[in-house]
Amino acid sequence: MAEKKWKTAITRHIGHETYIRGYRLLDLVGNLSFAQAIYLILKGELPNEKESKMMEAIFVSVIDHGIAPPSVIAARSVASGGNSLNVGVAAGVMAFGSAHGGALEDAMKFIQEGVKDSRSVGEIVSEYLSKKKPIPGYGHRYYKEFDPRTKRLMNIARDLGFYGDHCRFAEEVEEELYKQKGKRLVLNVDGAIAAVVSEMGFDWRLGKGFFIIGRVPGLVAHVFEELTTEKPFSKRLNEEEETEYTGVEPRELPEEFRKI
Ligand SMILES: CC(C)(COP(=O)(O)OP(=O)(O)OC[C@H]1O[C@@H](n2cnc3c(N)ncnc32)[C@H](O)[C@@H]1OP(=O)(O)O)[C@@H](O)C(=O)NCCC(=O)NCCS
Repeated sequence: MAEKKWKTAITRHIGHETYIRGYRLLDLVGNLSFAQAIYLILKGELPNEKESKMMEAIFVSVIDHGIAPPSVIAARSVASGGNSLNVGVAAGVMAFGSAHGGALEDAMKFIQEGVKDSRSVGEIVSEYLSKKKPIPGYGHRYYKEFDPRTKRLMNIARDLGFYGDHCRFAEEVEEELYKQKGKRLVLNVDGAIAAVVSEMGFDWRLGKGFFIIGRVPGLVAHVFEELTTEKPFSKRLNEEEETEYTGVEPRELPEEFRKI
């Protein structure tokens, strides 16, 4: 038989039944939490009790972080332009990048490669610093001493048995950064999640997925709030008070360009 064009190992239909990773969807409904179903669809197997609790904690930890991050500004601004909920949420997701949310993927790669690296943590950190490359998963706009979400997640990881080589490496890098830089660049929530999900055996290329799954409910809430409580076009700047013009002063259009 000729090979079919599209292949998937995730979901299939047999008659009217839907099977997710081999399990009947209707058996999952009512029996699995949302986080357990997410683990199943991403990893292909059901989570044990500890894995389930860890997943729940991870998703809850990133559900929202206020109105100020770029993704919420983007989502609410686009909604404010007169767009529907899905368009606003999509704009928010598009704002996830290497400095916001997307760092999770880079941090997973960094940590997974780091634990296998034969060099010392000090050598790895100094290579980044000498090239002036930010180490993904470290540093935060607001948290300058510690990221409280990291503390909480690391404690839960310890309790549930997910504090191993990856978490240890991540915390050693934080200490080494302090030693070499002379100031604290905290292991942020992206870095903490990256360490824990690496410990749980997830591929680093899934990294952004964890942030997207966890943060989309927050974006939905923000866009809904924007659409239902704010006037359209309210997300605009007061040009005089909030913006600064840095261009050239007004000047005359040269004669040769004047046609009328
Ligand atoms: C999040 C981030 C944009 C915050 O930047 P910031 O507010 O400018 O950070 P700070 O003002 O505390 O930076 C102070 C110094 O540390 C350096 N620094 C900041 N984060 C660093 C990192 N992750 N690795 C190495 N050096 C870093 C800065 O370059 C700066 O160096 P300088 O004083 O020699 O110029 C930045 O830390 C970063 O890019 N981190 C990596 C990406 C990441 O994890 N993002 C997720 C955030 S939740």
